[in-house]
Amino acid sequence: MYRTHTCGELRLENVSGKVLLSGWVQKIRNLGGMTFIDLRDRYGITQLVVDGETNKDLSDEVRELGREYVIQIEGVVAERSNKNPKMPTGDVEILLESLKVLNSSELPPFTIEDDTDGGEELRMRYRYLDIRRNPIRENLELRHRMGFEIRNFLNSLNFIEIETPVLIKSTPEGARDFVVPSRMNRGEFYALPQSPQVFKQLLMIGGMDKYFQIVKCFRDEDLRADRQPEFTQIDCEMSFIDQDDVLNSFEGLAKHLFKNIKGVEIDYDFPRLPYSEAMKYYGSDKPDIRFEMKFVEISDTVKSNGFKVFDDAEYVGAICAAGCAGYSRKQLDKLTNFVKSPQVGATGMIYIKYNQDGTVKSSVDKFFSQEKLIEVCEQCGAKPGDLVLILAGGKSKTLSALGDLRLEMGDQLGLRDNNKFAPLWVVDFPLLEWDEDSNRFHAMHHPFTSPKDEDVELIETAPGRVRANAYDIVINGVEIGGGSIRIHNEQLQQKMFELLGFSQEEAEEQFGFLMNAFKYGAPPHGGVAFGFDRWVALFSGAESIRDVIAFPKNNAGRDVMIDSPSSLAQAQLKELSIDVVEEDEEN
Ligand code: AMO
Repeated sequence: MYRTHTCGELRLENVSGKVLLSGWVQKIRNLGGMTFIDLRDRYGITQLVVDGETNKDLSDEVRELGREYVIQIEGVVAERSNKNPKMPTGDVEILLESLKVLNSSELPPFTIEDDTDGGEELRMRYRYLDIRRNPIRENLELRHRMGFEIRNFLNSLNFIEIETPVLIKSTPEGARDFVVPSRMNRGEFYALPQSPQVFKQLLMIGGMDKYFQIVKCFRDEDLRADRQPEFTQIDCEMSFIDQDDVLNSFEGLAKHLFKNIKGVEIDYDFPRLPYSEAMKYYGSDKPDIRFEMKFVEISDTVKSNGFKVFDDAEYVGAICAAGCAGYSRKQLDKLTNFVKSPQVGATGMIYIKYNQDGTVKSSVDKFFSQEKLIEVCEQCGAKPGDLVLILAGGKSKTLSALGDLRLEMGDQLGLRDNNKFAPLWVVDFPLLEWDEDSNRFHAMHHPFTSPKDEDVELIETAPGRVRANAYDIVINGVEIGGGSIRIHNEQLQQKMFELLGFSQEEAEEQFGFLMNAFKYGAPPHGGVAFGFDRWVALFSGAESIRDVIAFPKNNAGRDVMIDSPSSLAQAQLKELSIDVVEEDEEN
């Protein structure tokens, strides 16, 4: 037997009991003649103590131990004279009687403490050591509890979890596919699923009614803090439902998780904000509504005053930063540099300080009277003491830049509190978006999304104006999930492929199996998929989804621990009929 208790378990009621513990040596300290060891396992830390005066041999043995040695100990639980209220086991310690080294350890490359000295690259290389640290362990435990609650909740609503294949054919979720060569089918490739989208629709046609799956998805796209090449979805689909049914069911799931995981009771309906309003007021389809600071369009108020920047602009918009009239020149310059940075992309920023004494001071004083500037301030809901920030230019670019500026001001004013949660649904997305590069429409969600009944007739005349039965769930400015009501009619699906520029042959070749299935009684259906990693990160307060994934990839898509991707041996390539072309051969 290795242990009678874990390292997180012992309390005052165990005093005088004889125990066996196993774990890792976190730390050894010598104080006077006493030696203290912190012994760690997944459940906590227990202090061991040995008195060098009375137990010299054992004390000498302890001195031989190093950090991260794996040991088994025997001892008696005693009440601590110097209690540590910060540790759950801090009332007791173990008077060491014997010790056995189960395994030694080299000195770890970084300290295994909450605040480690290891940089991310090093921690990723030795991820198994990183996982011993509390913050990562806690994230993995949170992930487990969330997965468990999700399964519980969906099971209670009659959803069943069904696995779908991983070696499939391209799924159109908008990223590049990862592909796998087939040895048995020379020159042919499987694609890894970007999502199980078509399979869940086929399961509805198969009459499964309510499906879910916590499932790996694969997308070859540029990586960021909230994107991994392989990530996990909570993928769901339902039959005989309309959009309200889907939103209500999954709002229920969100509330269940808030309550059971975060202890947050949400007793109101999540706001449902049309996409057009999200863009108009927040410049983003994933608005952070923990704070207001909505945009106000001031084009009509400020145009025709001889200020070229406004006169030439398609759109002039402003936000009001409460209590910021006292911003210094330096602070304003910094904000201007922020909006002009390549990732924000505005050409400049104009400010109006609405001073406490009711006067205004602005970077465009030369062009506008005090009255006009006060009118702008009041239109933006500013009061004396506030600061109005204005951006102008092409509409969509300026809306997006103003959105970034709003978030920056939210940060500066401490309005984006991680302990506050503001969920909402963004609804009525456009069905299609125009792509300048390829000069054609793309599906904004995916090609299986249905248009709104009332907009169907616009498909021929004004496809860009057709709204979709598509929705996203957004929490604190993070897109946690998205879905849609699907097309279940073969002709409409055919029409959609046509709009997206697929020839009949291409549609047939890629999606013939689905079109065929639609011929055999496809029920009305729809669903949603949540980004599980993002949701866990949001609840844990992690900056990056990497922190909630046991073995993540870095921003170059590499697993630096196992050193993957890696090249294949010539024999393996030959078996797969693959020739790797060197770069200069390619050119
Ligand atoms: P969508 O493409 O919106 O929809 O994906 C659903 C959710 O998955 C998360 N997500 C990601 N998380 C981490 N890394 C990534 N690379 C990544 N890409 C997406 C996001 C997103 O909201 N089949 C549809 C769903 C449906 O229509 O039912 C789909 O996959 O949180």
